[in-house]
Amino acid sequence: MSDVGIDAVEIWTGKLKLDLAETFAPEKGDDPAKYTKGLGLFESSFPDTYEDIVTMGANACKRLMERHDLSPDDVGRIDVATESSFDNSKPISTYIAGCLEQTFDGDFHHANKGERKFACVAGTQAIDDAYNWIRAGRNRGRSAIVVATDTALYARDDPGEATQGAGAVAMLVSEDPDLVTLSDAQGYGSADETDFLKPNQQFPSVDGKRSVQVYLARMREAVEDYESVAGDLHPDDFVYAPFHTPFPGMVRKAALLAYRHITRDTEIEEELADAIGMQPRREEFDDDEAFSEAVSAYTDDLKGTDRYAAWYDATIDPTLDISRRVGNWYTGSVHIARIAGLKRALSEGRDMTGERIFVASYGSGAQAEVHHETVQPGWDEEIAGLNIDEQVADRYDLTFEEYERVHAAHDHSKDRDFEEFTAPEDEFVFDGWGRMGERKYRYVE
Ligand code: COA
Repeated sequence: MSDVGIDAVEIWTGKLKLDLAETFAPEKGDDPAKYTKGLGLFESSFPDTYEDIVTMGANACKRLMERHDLSPDDVGRIDVATESSFDNSKPISTYIAGCLEQTFDGDFHHANKGERKFACVAGTQAIDDAYNWIRAGRNRGRSAIVVATDTALYARDDPGEATQGAGAVAMLVSEDPDLVTLSDAQGYGSADETDFLKPNQQFPSVDGKRSVQVYLARMREAVEDYESVAGDLHPDDFVYAPFHTPFPGMVRKAALLAYRHITRDTEIEEELADAIGMQPRREEFDDDEAFSEAVSAYTDDLKGTDRYAAWYDATIDPTLDISRRVGNWYTGSVHIARIAGLKRALSEGRDMTGERIFVASYGSGAQAEVHHETVQPGWDEEIAGLNIDEQVADRYDLTFEEYERVHAAHDHSKDRDFEEFTAPEDEFVFDGWGRMGERKYRYVE
């Protein structure tokens, strides 16, 4: 059986931009540094009034199929991962296929379509489903398209309002992929949690501080599970570690704990010992509290070392380049982190073929999944074909008052009709409602 993995990717950002430091922070009475330094976010993307999870997903798929000269017959599966669906029965993949059939010859009538739900980890789960379908030999030589598409909106004045975003990532999963192959080894950390949920409501109920703790706990479990099958991780094992990125500050916390874990019992721990001592071991302490305090103190010291800073700058920081400018894309977040890392490598002229990356996904509710990927020879051409920098630069810069209108325009409970801020061109747009309450779409030349 040949290797299976991600063959191609495409990204589509919502066309509007909210500048968090310049526009949002002053209205909230916040220091802009809370966003730029604390959360690590500069801007969020929002959909214009004619955009939604279907248009963003379909536009990403169209570019992906055109760049790779694919026809509907080449695709045997379309899975959409989203936590912003507007339909409890009809999957978003059917709407997206319907859009694509407006512009491509042929149809997707023989493609299996579905929708995956588990908060932000669902995109990774959909890739898993595609991988398993191909490895099972059921694909008849065809590829799968996985679309992670979300409009991450929080209720106005919820603390999560600082971490919104909107966009889609389309990924082609195939045999002998050009971008990355996926490891068989995986680790899971999964538990029944109520950190973030949407019980039949559009905007999430969030316990933000708790969600940060749950992310870290489930991620730790997943890493330990991975190590139980793949052996202990070492920082030299991977070049980048893209994490699920609700906001870069979250990844900063996770990366520090991960580094502490993967340097334990290594030469790095020994080499750092003169400066900050060895990592505390439980058996050296009388009780959990004293142990936990010692671990916290060690972690703080570790964060201040040049060795950790150099690892973070090389391995984690590049994966945050896109996220900083677009905010949280829920299911797409970890996938733009992977792309951001590879984009940085391309811009530095680095040869990534054969290198490993360690991918850490997370979804509230809650589940973390980790695995590694091996970069393939066609990676540089694939990444060079993306136009995400131009898309990000071209977004319309919202005033705060315009942001309020955009938020209301995408609030399903409100019936608002606003003028668009940008003019659609060569893309799918929302075109009103049909007789059964379905959303309709058309292609604009
Ligand atoms: N300069 C530098 N840093 C600053 C700052 C300033 N002036 N003001 C605040 N900060 C830092 C805080 O110290 C904090 O960092 P820390 O956690 O490392 O200490 C960070 O900025 C955020 O500030 P905080 O006061 O905690 O923000 P908040 O109460 O508004 O909530 C979240 C932050 C993440 C809980 C909130 O945005 C949220 O609920 N988000 C949605 C849920 C989510 O994304 N969860 C993640 C897991 S999926």
